[in-house]
Amino acid sequence: MSINQVGKNIWCIDGDPVKMLTIPFQTRMTVIRLAGDKLWVHSPVQPIPDRIKAINSLGQVTYLIAPNVFHHLSLDQWAAKYPHAKLWGAEGLQYKRKDLKWDGVLKERPEMEWEDEIDQLYFQGSKILKEMVFLHKPSKTLILTDLIQNHDPKNETAIWKMIKKMNGVLAPHGGVPKDLRLTIRDKVKARASLNQILSWDFEKLIISHGLCIEKEAKNYVAGCFSWLKG
Ligand SMILES: [Fe+2]
Repeated sequence: MSINQVGKNIWCIDGDPVKMLTIPFQTRMTVIRLAGDKLWVHSPVQPIPDRIKAINSLGQVTYLIAPNVFHHLSLDQWAAKYPHAKLWGAEGLQYKRKDLKWDGVLKERPEMEWEDEIDQLYFQGSKILKEMVFLHKPSKTLILTDLIQNHDPKNETAIWKMIKKMNGVLAPHGGVPKDLRLTIRDKVKARASLNQILSWDFEKLIISHGLCIEKEAKNYVAGCFSWLKG
């Protein structure tokens, strides 16, 4: 179990590998400690005892955040473990996971409960993926889920290394997956989302799949979206 402190009041915890449509993914969750020791938990991975112990030592799990319709696999276990935590999900998840008791749908502006520390916006323009993007303002850290991927070659078989390289998501040359780019038909909306993200003050980037970027992340993100320029 590895827990990595990214900055003051923000940590990453690596999860177990998962398969989506046969594609292997390394996973990562992000934990932010808000005022009052309230923990805001982004894209939670499997809640094995070691992870739970580490998280409980940081504060009180208060919010569980599902940032897009693909990141919801362990939420039922988390909701069972933390019945008082509030469950917030991206648009669409409420229909996909009717078995969960949702407390809210993520909207274009941050909830009052976390707006002092966290900003948010939907990345618009794709027919498939409408991902909520977050900024932890105190640590200047951008948090993305699937929009940028940078899979570590150390974890990949030869065949998946080749496929992920072709899809533009193999470190050190990761980026926006080429298959995802094809779904971004409304480039005007996508550019507006990107411009808003780039107007935020951030230096680090956390991603759910692959190696994170620890400095000069704004240049990195701009480079990953260079194909989107009009
Ligand atoms: Fe993902």
